[in-house]
Amino acid sequence: MVPRRKFEKVNEIISRYGKLQSALIPILQEVQGEYRYLPEEILTYIATVMDLSPATVYGVATFYAQFSLEAKGKYVIKMCDGTACHVRGSESVKNTIQKRLGLASGKQTTPDMRFTLETVSCLGACGLAPVVMINDQIYGQMTPDAINIIIDKILAEEGVK
Ligand code: FES
Repeated sequence: MVPRRKFEKVNEIISRYGKLQSALIPILQEVQGEYRYLPEEILTYIATVMDLSPATVYGVATFYAQFSLEAKGKYVIKMCDGTACHVRGSESVKNTIQKRLGLASGKQTTPDMRFTLETVSCLGACGLAPVVMINDQIYGQMTPDAINIIIDKILAEEGVK
């Protein structure tokens, strides 16, 4: 449940872009930047305020891959499993991440909402394979040891021992 005051932020975003349907995508981008995903109740709220049908807003939110309707962790780890990364050992890096974060296969987000692990088919940096992207940062030539060090660093920054 999103706290009531959070709608203030949505109102502020909508008032900046205006209520024309053409503003919907940038509005959804900003809202997602704020919450890291698009909560259902906020999509409904946006539809009401912008005088659009909920189907229109949901349609746009589900059509574009950049939008997520599911909550994600603070750190989104994208593990590339494209051909170049796969032949260079992405599987063992992925297994290391899953084990380290306690993610059973099929489960993508840690219960503390700190990490989400996603598998993608190419991050456009095949020369650096195997590649991992954490939020906006690309890490190349990953090994199980290297990814463990990166996760250690993130946990230290988060104050987790
Ligand atoms: S296949 Fe992994 S970055 Fe292209």
